Amino acid sequence: MKKRFISTLQTKKDKQDPISMLTAYDAVTAQCLEEAKIDIILVGDSLGNVFAGHDTTIPVSVDEMIYHAKAVKKGAPNSIIVVDMPFMSYRISLEESKRNASKMIQETGANAVKCEINSDADIETVRQLIEAGIPVMGHIGLTPQFVEQFGGFKKQGKSLQEQTKLLEQAKQLEVCGAFAVVLEVIPDDLAKSITNAITIPTIGIGAGNDCDGQVLVINDLLGLSPHKAPSFANNMMIFTAE
Ligand code: KIV
Repeated sequence: MKKRFISTLQTKKDKQDPISMLTAYDAVTAQCLEEAKIDIILVGDSLGNVFAGHDTTIPVSVDEMIYHAKAVKKGAPNSIIVVDMPFMSYRISLEESKRNASKMIQETGANAVKCEINSDADIETVRQLIEAGIPVMGHIGLTPQFVEQFGGFKKQGKSLQEQTKLLEQAKQLEVCGAFAVVLEVIPDDLAKSITNAITIPTIGIGAGNDCDGQVLVINDLLGLSPHKAPSFANNMMIFTAE
């Protein structure tokens, strides 16, 4: 496969060509995803759950993300690889956020980082990372690093107030230069409104069919778990592209 660039994602949105994204945490899985021409490989901090066996993503460290992202890059040298910024790695100070993000990109060869967004301060951090030259994908809705504050893995954006906030966050991410935004477990019609309101691609998970792309944790797609997969995993359509 020819080397892919992040800019191809915007072209896909503009042409209404669906974007596929799956997680990988090791070289062999990454190689399979590259061969399947999946548009984006996400080294998700979901590895805390599905690889390390934690209940949440909170214990995952920057060094663990780097270890897995290096393996993924070896398996998929030509794919677009996005690495999650784990819990607190981009919230202590701007300086530390930049240091962690650049370390994750430089040491792994990944193309971009993904940040969960829960406040204006998070948006400002994303803006500064982008200004410093690090491509960023935003992630809003059910952001798993906030599972305690949400009182569990619950759908977000149910009230009008929350819907307004999520739409605003998506618009702010677009303005500050994020190249895409993940919409996790929000009402389908809200995901559709956000997708129509912003020019950058939206990638949904449990957010209906009207996003520009879909993402899943690979274990949920393959049924590689002792637990029942989330219902939206059954409906996932994988799109392959040149
Ligand atoms: O960590 C992860 O795998 C994710 C996806 C569920 C979007 O953030």
